Amino acid sequence: MRKIYLFDTTLRDGEQSPGVNLNTQEKVEIALQLEKLAMDRIEAGFPAASPGDLAAVDAVARAVKNATIVGLARSREQDIDAAREALKNAQDPCLHLFLATSPIHRKHKLRMEKEQVLETAEAAIRYAKKYFSKIEFSPEDGGRTELDFLCQVVEMAVKNGVSVVNIPDTVGYLTPYEYGNIFKTVKETVPGIEKIQLSAHCHDDLGMATANALAAILNGADQVEGTINGIGERAGNTALEEVAMALATRQDFYQANTGLVLTEIARTSRLVSRLTGMPVPGNKAIVGANAFAHESGIHQDGVLKEKTTYEIISPQTIGLKDSKLVMGKHSGRHAFREKLIDLGYDLGEEQLNIAFAKFKELADKKKEVSEEDILALIEEKLTSVTEAFVLEEIQVSYGNHSVPVAAVRIRTEEGDVVVETASGNGSVDSIYKAIDKATREEVQLTDYSIKAVTDGKDALGEVHVVLVQNGISVQGRGVSTDILEASARAYVDAINRLLDRRKTVGEGRTDKIQLI
Ligand code: KIV
Ligand code: ZN
Repeated sequence: MRKIYLFDTTLRDGEQSPGVNLNTQEKVEIALQLEKLAMDRIEAGFPAASPGDLAAVDAVARAVKNATIVGLARSREQDIDAAREALKNAQDPCLHLFLATSPIHRKHKLRMEKEQVLETAEAAIRYAKKYFSKIEFSPEDGGRTELDFLCQVVEMAVKNGVSVVNIPDTVGYLTPYEYGNIFKTVKETVPGIEKIQLSAHCHDDLGMATANALAAILNGADQVEGTINGIGERAGNTALEEVAMALATRQDFYQANTGLVLTEIARTSRLVSRLTGMPVPGNKAIVGANAFAHESGIHQDGVLKEKTTYEIISPQTIGLKDSKLVMGKHSGRHAFREKLIDLGYDLGEEQLNIAFAKFKELADKKKEVSEEDILALIEEKLTSVTEAFVLEEIQVSYGNHSVPVAAVRIRTEEGDVVVETASGNGSVDSIYKAIDKATREEVQLTDYSIKAVTDGKDALGEVHVVLVQNGISVQGRGVSTDILEASARAYVDAINRLLDRRKTVGEGRTDKIQLI
């Protein structure tokens, strides 16, 4: 059985998803969960992008002990120096150098001839070799590079002693056949190729990211790069949970496996979704809410008779629990704490008290509180963003023949209480206008979605919003048995994230990394 190494870039390529901005604490939290998942390599960021990015990579490098920590760098000395600084405390550091090689990038972006590209990359690798024993080199847009030139670039990288060569399908353009063929050709023709590992890095613009990564494995790739939940630039990256489960489920075919602790997949997916604010679509493979749901009568009948009729993976494999029904209003603090530990949350006293109070409030409204309810509740409370504004009260007057009016009471970080009212085009619009007045923030709402956490009329509603202000885009999430309250909470959460984000941009952190 071949071992396939997994290289997670949730904190770098994943963070390039529109509207996603993780602070250092959130990056460390995700990295520690990736360590529990037994991820081989974690790309923590792009240190040269800004002092904030450098600090975040440094924090991840100090926190994680059992994975290689990777820092991205353009083929320039100052980028390599920034990565050296950021990775100096890593147990096992790796530099990820890249330079575009395709004709389109050479002509329009770099304005370099082939020779110059080779020389620039070689000089960067040589410089980096003085400081790093592990280097990965990526010919960016390798998928659209002339195959003979790509082989020349790979040969140069091998000769100069890199450990890994990654061949990215940067724009998600290739078919599995074409992408697999690149790996086959490189393997067969580049002298010394057996000394290094080959890596696949795919984007999902044509929905091929996982298929292409698997094609690369079949043609000799030793490593696959990707993100949790497939988040990333544009349509996203290869979803690593999909690759891990494809290999685990079809070992008979691939004859390869990863070292992931599969039972940590569901938890990692939830964490990434919560901290990035990016909901996982219900029909997403492996980690979507419907991935194990059987709706049609024929399927349900089959599964009841024999699970394997329609189920190729058991939900327990990725760490989902069997019993969903848990607690009610008579459940005590101790049992609640035990349940949280069982769900992977060992909270400190203060957070536990807040979560327990929320749970009691919910148990008064809902007869049965499920695991999903508890997770939705506590995950809303576990924010690492300073709460500059806390929503204390909301009132809405609505009638289908009258103009809706909302009043909100908001407490500021300084302890002031602000009460504002507003009317608008519907209840949610009125609430949002009242919050705008109370917080004195002018924002644009670019996305709003709502979903029920569980079944039933008394289900918790979870609202997700995206707000934009001066080019900065942030996400927010709110949960309540009342969807208007959930809407207000999501909006206030997003405004708090916006203020947090403004601080980091002010500290010199770029809003989005430029890979040029
Ligand atoms: O997609 C891409 O080409 C990248 C490189 C920086 C490896 O993310
Ligand atoms: Zn990429």
